[in-house]
Amino acid sequence: MTLPAIVVPQLGDLVEKGLSEMVLARSELLEPDELRDFAAEFEAEAVKRKRLGQEFKEVAKSGVWLRWRWGEKLGPPPGPGARTDLSTSADGRGSPVESEARLVGTRPESDIRKWMDAGKLLWRAIVIQARKARRDDLEGITGNPNPADVITDRYQLLFGDLNKRLAQLEPESVDLIFTDPPYPREYLPLWDDLARHARRLLKPNGVLIAYSGLSHLPDVLELLGEHLEYRHVYAVTLEGSAARHRTWPVRRVWKPLLAYQPPNSKRPDQVPNHPDLLSAGQRDKGLYEWQQTVGPGEDLIGLWTEADGVVLDPFMGVGSFGVAALQLGRQFIGVELDPERFARSAQRLSDVQ
Ligand SMILES: C[S@@+](CC[C@H](N)C(=O)[O-])C[C@H]1O[C@@H](n2cnc3c(N)ncnc32)[C@H](O)[C@@H]1O
Repeated sequence: MTLPAIVVPQLGDLVEKGLSEMVLARSELLEPDELRDFAAEFEAEAVKRKRLGQEFKEVAKSGVWLRWRWGEKLGPPPGPGARTDLSTSADGRGSPVESEARLVGTRPESDIRKWMDAGKLLWRAIVIQARKARRDDLEGITGNPNPADVITDRYQLLFGDLNKRLAQLEPESVDLIFTDPPYPREYLPLWDDLARHARRLLKPNGVLIAYSGLSHLPDVLELLGEHLEYRHVYAVTLEGSAARHRTWPVRRVWKPLLAYQPPNSKRPDQVPNHPDLLSAGQRDKGLYEWQQTVGPGEDLIGLWTEADGVVLDPFMGVGSFGVAALQLGRQFIGVELDPERFARSAQRLSDVQ
């Protein structure tokens, strides 16, 4: 990892205060693209060190400062009605990452310091704090509390962070976790969370099937493999895709769906042999930049669960896999921490007959 030449005059003082303070001071001089790229470097290094049990706090804080400053420079998130579909880039640094940075960038430095002092050192924890702060602000203005959970006889939609909400579910109560976590590097720790909860929540012989990007696949496999056993990779073909890979000169025409089971699980007898190549079908990003199509979810939920099966999606987004599960007559549990996407899911699922 290299940093641009340090030009801050009181270098000695800054070093005394620690790496992250130096990076914060230096960050004022960087261009937005440099801030984004350096943030990603620091975040990756912090995740690696944390996993190896090494000191990571100053490195993690440095990543947060750089990404906060990036968001500050980009300006606040566009208001409702803005065309978000136009800003998704092909290299995986799409607009969701940008809009989170913009959100955090609206908070004052004192908020970021307060959250770091409270132990929130990784970017995703800071994003969660910024969302809460925004909700508190909105509640102050509108009197509206967080969205309430939506519980019916067919589904439970749980609002909030998956670590809190999944801890409230019964162990061994889920047949299939079918999900789609965020792919960028700064979200890698979520794969560890997902695998830990999957191990507790899946019934014996239950299955986790998760979409993944390709850029950080080795890290994803390692994190999942710490709690679960690898079973297979499905390939989902992307129709008409023009997406480029970030580091390799290819046009992306497929994405992986990773299949894992809790340790010592058996392959369920009732599941027939089936092809491991699926088609995503017509691209649909009408509700959300990271929205998935319903088709592959429907195919695999149909194969891997029985009529009364329970399907969980802890990264529900706008509820595409909930739609798939309900259309097949399965029970569905979804968790989502973004209030707008949570509300979209609730609306969408209530429309499924
Ligand atoms: C890739 S999107 C899922 C899109 C979904 N498959 C769909 O079709 O709409 C990932 C979702 O996970 C949510 N998310 C990220 N971190 C989370 C967390 N810690 N707890 C709950 N939801 C989270 C994000 O807000 C986002 O909506």
